[in-house]
Amino acid sequence: MPNENASAKKLINTGSISFQFIVFIGLLLVVLLVMLNIFPYVSTRDAVYQEKEKAMESQASMLASALTGLERPDEENVAEVLRLLDMQGYERVTIADKAGSAVYDSDGGGSRDGVEPDLLTALSGKTVFRSVFRDESFHSSYAIPIGNHKSITGAVFLRENDAERGKILHELQVQIRALSIVIAIAALVMAGVYGTTVLGKLRQLSNAIRVVSGGDYKYRIAVSGKDELAELSREFNELTARLEDTERQRRRFVSDASHELKTPLASIRLLADSIVQTENMDVETMREFVSDIGNEAERLQHMTEDLLSLSRMDDDIQIVPEPVDVKKATLDAINLLRPVAAEKQVTLNAELDDGCLVLATKDNMHHIVFNLLENAVKYNFPEGSVTAKLHKEGDTVQLTVEDTGVGIPEDERYNIFGRFYRIDKARSREAGGSGLGLSIVHDAVKAHGGSIAVGANEPRGSRFIVSFPAYKG
Ligand SMILES: Nc1ncnc2c1ncn2[C@@H]1O[C@H](COP(=O)(O)OP(=O)(O)OP(=O)(O)O)[C@@H](O)[C@H]1O
Ligand SMILES: [Mg+2]
Repeated sequence: MPNENASAKKLINTGSISFQFIVFIGLLLVVLLVMLNIFPYVSTRDAVYQEKEKAMESQASMLASALTGLERPDEENVAEVLRLLDMQGYERVTIADKAGSAVYDSDGGGSRDGVEPDLLTALSGKTVFRSVFRDESFHSSYAIPIGNHKSITGAVFLRENDAERGKILHELQVQIRALSIVIAIAALVMAGVYGTTVLGKLRQLSNAIRVVSGGDYKYRIAVSGKDELAELSREFNELTARLEDTERQRRRFVSDASHELKTPLASIRLLADSIVQTENMDVETMREFVSDIGNEAERLQHMTEDLLSLSRMDDDIQIVPEPVDVKKATLDAINLLRPVAAEKQVTLNAELDDGCLVLATKDNMHHIVFNLLENAVKYNFPEGSVTAKLHKEGDTVQLTVEDTGVGIPEDERYNIFGRFYRIDKARSREAGGSGLGLSIVHDAVKAHGGSIAVGANEPRGSRFIVSFPAYKG
C-alpha cells in the first residue's frame, strides 16, 4: 500500500512545474470560459427584458386608458376595444373590475389559473412587470391599474410568451458553448506544445546539472534560441567551463606538487640507502651524503612552507592589514640575501625613498620583496647587479626590482606567475627553486589591492614593477 502511494505521488508530482503549469492554464481557461459564457448571455437577456417592459408598458397603458372611457366594462365592449386596438400575440389578457373579479379573460373567464395575483397588486395602484427566460422562451407579464390614482376602476393584465427571441438567445448560448469547447481544445493543445518545449529545456538543464555535479565537467548543453532558458543554459555552460578549468588546475597542482615532493624524497632515500648499504664508508663521503640529505630536507621544508602560504591565501582568510614600511621590508630582505649575493658575486643596490607605507601584512610584504630579490640574485651572472628602487607616485607606492641576469623571454612573462612554473627547469632546480615564489608574490600583491608587471631591463636582465595603493595615514 505505501508503495502504491509512492508511485501515485511520482505520477502526479504536485510540486512539479508541469503540474503547476497545467493547474494555472486550467484555472485561467475556466475563468475565461465562464466569463465568455455568462457575459454575452446575461447582457442580451437583460436587453430583451428592457425591450419587453417598454413594449408591454405602452400597450397596457393604451389599453388601460381606452378602458377608462367605458362606463361598465364587460366582456363584449372589452373585446371590441381589444379588436380596435389590434392587440394580438398575447397569451392572456385579463381585465378586472374594482373588486378584483375578472370582467374579461382571454383565458376563459379566469377558470384555469384564477385571477392573477399581479392584478390585485395593480388594483392597489402599482404596475407590475415580470419577465423570465425559461424553456427557450421569454415569459413576460404586465399589470397596470385602470383610472388615475384617485379613482382606480379596475386593472389590466397582459401575459406574453416570446419563443422567437427565446430561440435566438438559446442559439447564441449554444454557439458560445461550441466556441468555448474549440477555444479550450486549442488552448490546451497550444499549452501542451509550449509546456513540452519549455519543460523539455528545463529537464535538459536539470539533467545537465546532475551530470556535471556527478563530476563530468566536459558536459555542455546544446543551446538554441534567445529566450531566458537559452540564456540560463549559456550561463550554465560558462560556469561548467570555469569549473572544468578550476578542476584542471587543481589536478595539475596536485600532480605537480606530488612530483616536486617526490624528487627530493627519492634523493633522500637513495642517499640514506647508500650510507646503509656501503660497508666501511669513509667519514668524508658519509658527511657529504648526510649534508646532501640535509639540503634536500631543507628544500622540502621550503616547499611545504611555500605551499602553506599559498593555501592560506587561497582560503581567503580575513587578514588584518597594518601599515607596513616597504623600505624596511626591502632592507631586511637585502640583508638576508647578502651572503648569497656575495657568493654569486652579485652587487645589491638600493634607492629607497622614506615614507612609503602600504596596508598589508608584514609576512606578505616580506614574501613579495624577498622572492623578487632572491630571483634577481639567483638568475643573475657573476659580476652582475640587482637594484631595488622604491618611491611614491601619486596615490601609489612603486617598488622596482631590476637585475642584469638571464632575463625572461617575452612569451614566458605570463606563465612565470603560475604554480610550479620554471622556465629553465634544470637551472632553477640547481638553484634550489620549485617555481612557487612568483605565485606567492602574485597572490600576495593581489591580496593587498596591488598589481605586478614584468618587463626587460636595459641592456639586459629583467625588471619587476609592483604597485600598491599608498597608505594615507
Ligand atoms: N629575475 C629573474 N630573471 C630571470 N628569470 C626569472 C627571474 N625571476 C623568475 N624567473 C623565472 O621564473 C621562474 C619562476 O620563478 P619563481 O620564483 O616562481 O620560482 P623559482 O625561483 O624557480 O622557485 P622558488 O622561488 O619557489 O624557490 C623561475 O624558475 C625562473 O625561470
Ligand atoms: Mg623564486
